[in-house]
Amino acid sequence: MASSGIGVGLVGLGTIGTGVVRVFREHADEIEARLGFPLRLAHIADVDLETDRGVSLEGYRLSRDFKALVEDEAIDLVVELIGGTTIAAQVVTSALEAGKGVVTANKALLAHKGAEIYALAETHGAPVAFEASVGGTIPVLRALREGLCADRLFALRGIVNGTCNYILSSMESDGEPYEACLKRAQELGYAEADPTFDVDGTDSAHKLAILLGLAFGVHARPGDFYSRGIQLIAPADIRAARRMGLRIKLLASARRLDTGVEARVEPTLIPTGSVLAGVDGSMNAIEVRGKMSGPTLYYGAGAGSLPTASAVVADLMELARARRLGVALRVPPLGTHRLEPSGLLSSDQERGEYFVRLELGEEDRSRRVSVALAEHGVPLVSLESPPGEDLTLTTGETSRAALDSALALIGSAASASHVIRIEKEI
Ligand SMILES: NC(=O)c1ccc[n+]([C@@H]2O[C@H](COP(=O)([O-])OP(=O)(O)OC[C@H]3O[C@@H](n4cnc5c(N)ncnc54)[C@H](OP(=O)(O)O)[C@@H]3O)[C@@H](O)[C@H]2O)c1
Repeated sequence: MASSGIGVGLVGLGTIGTGVVRVFREHADEIEARLGFPLRLAHIADVDLETDRGVSLEGYRLSRDFKALVEDEAIDLVVELIGGTTIAAQVVTSALEAGKGVVTANKALLAHKGAEIYALAETHGAPVAFEASVGGTIPVLRALREGLCADRLFALRGIVNGTCNYILSSMESDGEPYEACLKRAQELGYAEADPTFDVDGTDSAHKLAILLGLAFGVHARPGDFYSRGIQLIAPADIRAARRMGLRIKLLASARRLDTGVEARVEPTLIPTGSVLAGVDGSMNAIEVRGKMSGPTLYYGAGAGSLPTASAVVADLMELARARRLGVALRVPPLGTHRLEPSGLLSSDQERGEYFVRLELGEEDRSRRVSVALAEHGVPLVSLESPPGEDLTLTTGETSRAALDSALALIGSAASASHVIRIEKEI
């Protein structure tokens, strides 16, 4: 341990890394006052040490290779902020093997390799903290791990990708198509130059995998549950949603049933008056329901340099306190010593109500659709077939498999079909 306080090493001086430097530079006094001892950023590693990042690096030891940082005896805690799942995994693994605590914001790494990382943390008695990996600045993981730890949670729903929420919100408010809203999101810095992982649901699935561990004690990887993004949402869907008094949100959701836990990421129609429907722009929100606690809601900035960095430094403070007290693993990473044995339910078993939009030739289309649905036992609740526009319908509760079979029957006649889940009880 560094003689005067706890030493921190930062690997990755990008968007979040520079935010961490700023938090340390601007809040050192508050951090020391709250801890009662100094927490010092001492060493920074990045492959590019030349580019001006807009923060002073004076006083820090600088390295291009993360190994020099992990081996530095002045470093007690290592922050991994480079992203990806290869070198980032090496940073985390080597730090834990050296008995150093790790803080990361890397949801992709945890979603894919979390089980191995948590096991390694236990083996080496070194903690790993990852509050910033879900919901940026929102302390929802801490709430699940500690605040709600006496309860039995049964449902969780969240808007956990600000890029998608911004695009859907602006499609609604401006009436513009998906592509135009994505372009504006990129111009405003809400979407990456390559937005694929955000808009196709991958990022939300990474976050849901982490939430499933903390809320339900399930080790899930993103491929274990159904996941879909927002690329197929069209202005016609937004208009239909408005007519039904609903809004479309990309929801990451999970609930505990008697038979196991079901989870999914998909665009979902929810009542306009619900709390989650009111979450606009790039903001995130996660609603949790517990048997004893009832509903609780966590809302805030889900990304961005300083909000995310503030969560990273809060994790560092928690790990520094524990290290000072000599209790490395005060709480297990997923908040439990016993994982859910039944795991996740297969998405084939899922049931729900659905909205469907079909691009279908005009002739006799209402009858053809009604017959196909009836043949597969899918209850039809409403059907609209305005001339010159797509046909839209809503179903009663049905299995997704039956709906897919009915749509396949109509299939050759429909040039495209789009299905959105409806969640009225939210
Ligand atoms: N951005 C957000 O709002 C946000 C929010 C929540 C969580 N996160 C997570 O936080 C992590 C960091 O995101 P970010 O947006 O800060 O990424 P970023 O801006 O791309 O920063 C990554 C930094 O790591 C450096 N790097 C790459 N390989 C390295 C290596 N082998 N050794 C040392 N440095 C290396 C990069 O240098 P070069 O640029 O020269 O390659 C870059 O400076 C990711 O896991 C991300 O998912 C981000």
